[in-house]
Amino acid sequence: MANPQRYTVTAALIYANGPIHIGHLAGCYLPSDIYVRFLRMKGEDVLFVSGTDEHGVPITLRARKEGLTPQQVVDKYYTVIDQSFRDFGIEFDIYSRTSRPAHHEFSSQFFRHLYDKGVFTEQETEQYYDPEAKQFLADRYIVGTCPHCANTNAYGDQCEKCGTSLSPDELINPHSTLSGAKPEKRNTKNWFLPLDQLQPQLQTYIDAHPEWKSNVAGQCQSWLKDGLRPRAMTRDLDWGVSVPVEGAEGKVLYVWFDAPIGYITASKEWFTQPETRNTLTYGGKPKSDNWEVYWKDENTKLVHFIGKDNIVFHCLIFPAMLQVHGGYILPDNVPANEFLNLAGDKLSTSRNWAIWLHEYLQEMPGKQDELRYVLTSISPENKDGDFTWDDFQARVNNELVAVFSNFVHRTMVLTQKNYGSKVPVADQYTKEDLVVLEEAAKFPDRIGAALSAYRFREAQQELMNLARLGNKYLSDTQPWKLIKTDDVRTRTILNVSLQLCANLSVLCMPFLPFTSKKLRTMLNLGELNWEQAKSTTLLAAGHTLTEPVMLFAKIDDALIKQQVDKLAVIRQQLDAEKAAAELAAAPKPMNDPSKIEAAKGETSFDEFSKMDIRIGTILEAERVPKSDKLLKLLVDTGLDKRTVLSGIAKHYTPEQVIGQQVTILVNLAPRKMMGHESQGMILMAENTAGELSFVVPTKTNVDNGSTVK
Ligand code: 2FM
Ligand code: ZN
Repeated sequence: MANPQRYTVTAALIYANGPIHIGHLAGCYLPSDIYVRFLRMKGEDVLFVSGTDEHGVPITLRARKEGLTPQQVVDKYYTVIDQSFRDFGIEFDIYSRTSRPAHHEFSSQFFRHLYDKGVFTEQETEQYYDPEAKQFLADRYIVGTCPHCANTNAYGDQCEKCGTSLSPDELINPHSTLSGAKPEKRNTKNWFLPLDQLQPQLQTYIDAHPEWKSNVAGQCQSWLKDGLRPRAMTRDLDWGVSVPVEGAEGKVLYVWFDAPIGYITASKEWFTQPETRNTLTYGGKPKSDNWEVYWKDENTKLVHFIGKDNIVFHCLIFPAMLQVHGGYILPDNVPANEFLNLAGDKLSTSRNWAIWLHEYLQEMPGKQDELRYVLTSISPENKDGDFTWDDFQARVNNELVAVFSNFVHRTMVLTQKNYGSKVPVADQYTKEDLVVLEEAAKFPDRIGAALSAYRFREAQQELMNLARLGNKYLSDTQPWKLIKTDDVRTRTILNVSLQLCANLSVLCMPFLPFTSKKLRTMLNLGELNWEQAKSTTLLAAGHTLTEPVMLFAKIDDALIKQQVDKLAVIRQQLDAEKAAAELAAAPKPMNDPSKIEAAKGETSFDEFSKMDIRIGTILEAERVPKSDKLLKLLVDTGLDKRTVLSGIAKHYTPEQVIGQQVTILVNLAPRKMMGHESQGMILMAENTAGELSFVVPTKTNVDNGSTVK
C-alpha cells in the first residue's frame, strides 16, 4: 500500500508459558518496535498492539509441570513478559491478554458470526480419549515409544530425541500423561474451517503480494501447492474460550482461532481505556476515536510481525477467517523472521538453552541498547542467525564503543574543554564541511527506505555509517591539534560535528531508544521528528550543552567469560540428560545368569512387615547440583508429599520421571545427602548390567498410598 492513512502493527501474542529470551526479542518484538518508533517519528497514525496468548496446550502442559492451575501460570508469566518488554523499551500502545473477559466475549462473537453464516462444516472424527481422566487428549498428552529411534518418551506429535514429526497412531505402547492409562479412540464432533474451499481466494490474496519476503511467500505457496485441508476450529479441551454453540459443551475454540482475534480485542480495549484515550493523537493531530478504522478501513495498513513458525496462521488461516467474516482488511504484509540460534543450537525454553531477558538485565544492568543493537545486527531476516557472547562483545566494543560513542564523546569533550559546553559558531564552511553535511542530510531517507522495506539490519548499518562519517571527519580535520593554531576553523569543525551528533540522536531513536535519550540530554535537545534529522543546523550557535557522559562502555573479558561459563554449565547438564535418555532408550540387555546376585539370608515376616512400602507418584524432579547420580524428587505418597533423593540420574532425566508411578519405602529414617534430606527410598529393579528400572503396579487403579506387602 503506497500511502496508507494509518497503520495497525501487531507483534505475535506469545504463549504465557515462560519468560522471554533473546530469540523472541530478535524474532519479532525488536523489529516491530523499531518499525513503529520510526513511523511515530514520521508523524504517522499507528496503533501497536500485542499481548500474551493464554490458551492452548502449551499453557496446560506448563501448569502440570509447575503444579499450578493454568490461570496461575498465565498470571505469573504475563507479569514477567510484560515487565521484560517495558525494560527493553518495546513500546506497545497496549499489551493485552487473551484470558481477559473482553477477549472471550469478542472471539466468541466472531466464532458465532461465522457459525450463523454457515461457514463451518461439522465433522465427527476419532480422537484419543483417556478413560480414567475422562477427557480427550491433545497429541502432547500422549507419550509412547518412537518407532524410529525407540525413545520411550516420544510425544504424540513429535519425538524430541530424533526430531521426527509423529501422530499418536505411530507410537508404540501409547499412554496418557494424565493417568498413565492406555488411550482409546472415541468419536467427537468439531467445527472445521473449510480451507480447501477457500483456497482460490487465498491464492488470489497471496499472489497479490509479490513484495512479501521470499521466506514468507515461499512458505505460503508451498502450503497452497500441497492443497489446503479443512482445519478444526474447536478442540476438546477444558482451557480456553468456550464454543458458543449448543452441543459444544466441554469444547473450546482452537487456540489459533482465538489468538489472532486477540489483536483486534486488544485494539478495542485500547480505545475503551479512559487513561489511553488521552493519548489519542499522532504527530500533533487528533486520532480517530473509533477502533474500527484500524481494522476495517481500506486505507489502514495492517502489518503482522511474527516468527517463521507462525507464518501459515497469519498468512492463510487468519486472512481466511477475516475474509469469511467480512468487513475486515487483510494483512498488508507479514515480515516474518527466521529463527535465532544460541551458540549454534536452537534456543529452547523447555531445555533452558536461552538467554533470558530478565537475567540479562540483572547481569548486565543498563545495557538494553547493547543487546538491542547486537540482535538487530544479527537479525535472522532471511536465514537463521546465531548469537554468541564473543560476537556480542566484539560488536559492542568495535562498533558501539569505538565508532558511535567515540565520535560523540570526542566532539562533546572538545566542546566542553574549549568552548565551555556552548555550541561554537560555524564560520565559513569549507568544501570538506559541505560534503559531510550534504552526505549527512541523506541519511534520514536512506535509513527510512530500509525500514519501510523491513530491512532492519541494513537500516542500522546505515545509522552506523553516519557515525563513521563523523569519526572520519574528526580524524581528517583533527580539531584537537587545530585548536592551537586556528580557533575559528576549530569552532566550525566542532559545530559541524555537533550537528552530526544531533542528527544521530534523532536517527538512533528507533534502534537505541535509551541512548537517544541520553544523547538528547547531553545535547539539551527535545524530541524531534524524522524529517528534522535532515537539517544540518539543529543546534544554534551558543546553545548550551550538558555534561558529556560515555554512551557505551567496553565490555571486558571477565563479563563475557561469566556468561560463556554459565552456558557451558547448562550445556553440560543437557549433554548429561541426553546421554541418560539415550541410555534409557537403548535396547536392554538381558540378565547375565552368571552375574545374578547371590540370594540373601532368611528374614522373618515380622522384620519384613516393619517396612512400610507404598505406591506414589513423582510430582517434581530436578538434578542435584554437583552430583551426577542424584535426582531430587517430590513424591506424592498418598500420605503426604515428600522429598526423596534417588541415585537414578544416570538412568533417567528429570523430565522422564515426572508423573512416574513408583514404589517407595516411606518409613526409612531420613538421611542427608549432598546437603538435602531424603525422606524415603524409591525401590528400583537392577539387572546384571547395572541398569535401573522403576517397580510399578501392573494395573492402572493402584493409587498413591496403596500398600505393598
Ligand atoms: O507461537 C506462539 O507463541 C503463539 N502463541 C503466537 C500467536 S500469534 C497470534 F496469532 F496471536
Ligand atoms: Zn525418535
